[in-house]
Amino acid sequence: MTEHKTPSFSSKVGLILATAGSAVGLGNIWKFPYEAGQSGGGAFLIVYLICCLLFGLPMLMTELYIGKQSQKSAYGAFRKLSNNNRWQWMSWVCIITALLITGFYFEVTGWCFHYLFAAIGNSFKGMTAVTMQTHFAQLMSNKWALFGYSMIAVVATAGVLWFDVNKGIERLSKILMPLLLVMMILMVIRVLMLDGSHKGLEFFFKVDFSKITPNTVLAALGQCFLSLSVGLGALITYGAYMQKSQNITATSLQVVILDTAVAVLAGMIIFPAVFAFGVNPAEGPQLVFVVLPAIFEKMSFAWLSGVFFFLLLCIAAITSTISLMEVIVAFINEATAKTRHPLNRHKSVIIVSAMIMLTIGACVFREEIFNWSDDFTANILIPLNALAMTIFVGWFLPKKDLLEEFGKEKGFKHYFALCYLQIVRYFIPLTIVIIFLNGLGLWDAIQKLF
Ligand code: TRP
Repeated sequence: MTEHKTPSFSSKVGLILATAGSAVGLGNIWKFPYEAGQSGGGAFLIVYLICCLLFGLPMLMTELYIGKQSQKSAYGAFRKLSNNNRWQWMSWVCIITALLITGFYFEVTGWCFHYLFAAIGNSFKGMTAVTMQTHFAQLMSNKWALFGYSMIAVVATAGVLWFDVNKGIERLSKILMPLLLVMMILMVIRVLMLDGSHKGLEFFFKVDFSKITPNTVLAALGQCFLSLSVGLGALITYGAYMQKSQNITATSLQVVILDTAVAVLAGMIIFPAVFAFGVNPAEGPQLVFVVLPAIFEKMSFAWLSGVFFFLLLCIAAITSTISLMEVIVAFINEATAKTRHPLNRHKSVIIVSAMIMLTIGACVFREEIFNWSDDFTANILIPLNALAMTIFVGWFLPKKDLLEEFGKEKGFKHYFALCYLQIVRYFIPLTIVIIFLNGLGLWDAIQKLF
């Protein structure tokens, strides 16, 4: 079979763009603002930024390292590096996580398509944040339409994977990513001119430390992992495409900075608008969709701004769904390669599309499942995978290779590498364990003791 030739990224830019394309998506623009809105604004932001630095960056490096070292995707990487099957279960957990995420992620991508079409049809004309709430509620009650919109996302994603036009998408993101940034900056400027917007900035940037609870930390951690695309092996595949000379630390740093910048910009658009329009910041998943169209109504070239932004949002979402679906496709492809019924890339794409339709259906028709898979993956499965991956790299892989990759000669790089090693060995695993114990009621028990 020719499917698993390991292609490689010919340029640094290509690698960074593909990784950034996977990272920047609905996590930044849809989920980050609504999570921040529910968890106290500034309190969430500060915990989130710390999480990105202490957990996100090292995890990104860890996944890319597993891939670069093994030259395999999530399916084969653990087996190859450990020389046995004892870590194989990891790839199964990764796949289950990916499948659960696809359910709600594709549904929300479907919402974006609806908003794109509505923007093209000029349906938001004259709407306010209040009437947008009714619009959103109507959309939510029309289950079959929702399912249909998500199918557009499935077909688009499957199409890209089918024709293997990832490279084209990559080149496209070279133009689109900066455009998205420019568009968002313009929106920040416009929104800050609205009356009452400063209250939003205050909400987003003023840290009220009393609002930081263990739950804030867990939510921020889960959000940071989801946003950076770590915790289910998607980046192991990208690491496998890296060339020897490409530097993991630099790539990871750039991706973290870009991804965090987009999330912070999204917050700087949403919260000032939320306060200017009198919307409740803790409104939940619909927050962004209620506020955005009302912002365009205030912008010059309202129609064009709306269409353009939702187009960029749909594209950002699709570059993320591609990497999500690719995890499952590559898994099935590799897992069956040596069996009597190998499934080639095309067959895998069809099977995975069918599986995804089921998970989307479950999320669309049962809102509890949507909420559950959103929370369960971010708060349990992804941190659990991160725990296993850090233990694997920190304790089971040779330290010598690790230092070889991250810096073995004395100097700044070497200290950074040693620091990374401590974080991966002790800090991340211990913190995640403590967070889980807390989930089981430990924190409450301790508080009762005193
Ligand atoms: N990071 C993406 C976002 O913020 C979501 C995503 C895409 C993802 N591919 C992934 C998350 C792979 C985990 C793994 O929207």
